[in-house]
Amino acid sequence: MSKLCTVAILGVGSRGHCYGKHMFSMPDKYKIVSICEIKPERLARFEKEWGIAKDLCFTDADEFLKEKRADVLVIGTHDREHVAYAIKALELGYHILLEKPISPVKQEMLDLLEAQKKHPQKVLVCHVLRYSPVFVKLKELVDKKEIGDLRIIEWNEQVAFWHQCHSFVRGNWRRDEKASPMIMQKCCHDLDLLQYYVGDKCDTVYSTGDLSFFKREFQPEGAADRCSECKYINTCPFSAEWVYVTRWRDEKGSPADQWPFNMCCYDIPLTEEKIRKAYSSPDNVYGRCVFACDNTVVDNQMVTMKFKNGVKVNLTMSAFSADSGRRAIFRGTNGQINFDESEDVIRVQQFGKEPYFIKGSELCAEDKTGFGHGGGDVVLVETLYDMIYNGAEEVTALEASVESHLIALCAEESRQSGKVIKVHED
Ligand SMILES: NC(=O)c1ccc[n+]([C@@H]2O[C@H](COP(=O)([O-])OP(=O)(O)OC[C@H]3O[C@@H](n4cnc5c(N)ncnc54)[C@H](O)[C@@H]3O)[C@@H](O)[C@H]2O)c1
Repeated sequence: MSKLCTVAILGVGSRGHCYGKHMFSMPDKYKIVSICEIKPERLARFEKEWGIAKDLCFTDADEFLKEKRADVLVIGTHDREHVAYAIKALELGYHILLEKPISPVKQEMLDLLEAQKKHPQKVLVCHVLRYSPVFVKLKELVDKKEIGDLRIIEWNEQVAFWHQCHSFVRGNWRRDEKASPMIMQKCCHDLDLLQYYVGDKCDTVYSTGDLSFFKREFQPEGAADRCSECKYINTCPFSAEWVYVTRWRDEKGSPADQWPFNMCCYDIPLTEEKIRKAYSSPDNVYGRCVFACDNTVVDNQMVTMKFKNGVKVNLTMSAFSADSGRRAIFRGTNGQINFDESEDVIRVQQFGKEPYFIKGSELCAEDKTGFGHGGGDVVLVETLYDMIYNGAEEVTALEASVESHLIALCAEESRQSGKVIKVHED
């Protein structure tokens, strides 16, 4: 019999629910015993769904963190509410599954690193793509020199216009001072992967980018500030009707409970009428015109990086994409690898030879292809267990994860100052 790992979850929103759901489906490994969530409807839902004792369901994080409630704490609160809770949790003796970004504030990251050194427990950062078989495959191909020596990576993070509207114009990550700069929030995964593929530390960073479109001056003539009152509601691709109702209807099986629709409307099971009613309510942030929000984060950013081993990388993050997911070209001395996440394909071509193709979803175990982040979410949850009890490699341990965050902070500094920034003092 394997040891049962007890779990407490702080913040049962999209991410807390996602990890909780996977843990709940592994009863031989995990048991969720306590939750803390400020939204009463969510707390009540998961108390029932996961069968948690009422006296271990909390709405107040200070009360919840007065005692150690389990072996592992999942921290799924928002970006600026990670480090203080993580330090407290380490003091209580928890292992931690910590959502990214660790923090958008450098000093906070360093404080957490210091705190961890004083405690024997593990802190695993949710860089979920590192656990996704297709992204791991790319690393294998680079490392076995399938394209010779790596020289350049061209990397595109296609945010998708509807995702930009949902999270970064209307939603929780629209203002950097309340959440994180976009390059940290959306691209710390990309930066983490890039330094993993290159296999060395980043030396210098240069970046440009701005909020170029989702602002008042681009609001169409005669548009209303709320979609439900707008004459363009059925023709605007950014309207709440399109983003939440049409996309939900087009989604396979019109899901009863799925992000991002359940952010706009939490009346589960979802229906078209319920979603429409929710976004039409005057205080629902997701019903706002995308040209009349209080968003500050960029909608496009480019980052040019030179790594210490000489490899150069260009990262483009853009809202202006129909597809979502990553597209990349790895250029080596003996060939190139093209990767397209939305097309689910890796194409490897050595110079002078026929290309061969690898289908990303075929790399996942059969029962994991439908899970989030290319199977990465569920593999992360399995790895956490193996890391605590079976000595598995700490792929996204805190120390390893700080590097991508430092690159993101330097990129943001460069974007604002127009200067080339050195990531590390030599
Ligand atoms: N790893 C990934 O790929 C990934 C993807 C999306 C988001 N994230 C990160 O995960 C974190 C959470 O994002 P989300 O999409 O789940 O957001 P969310 O809003 O869906 O969930 C956050 C939850 O925390 C609750 N909460 C906030 N403050 C609280 C407090 N003090 N005590 C108890 N509960 C509290 C909120 O009510 C909400 O239910 C963010 O930092 C985000 O950057 C990571």
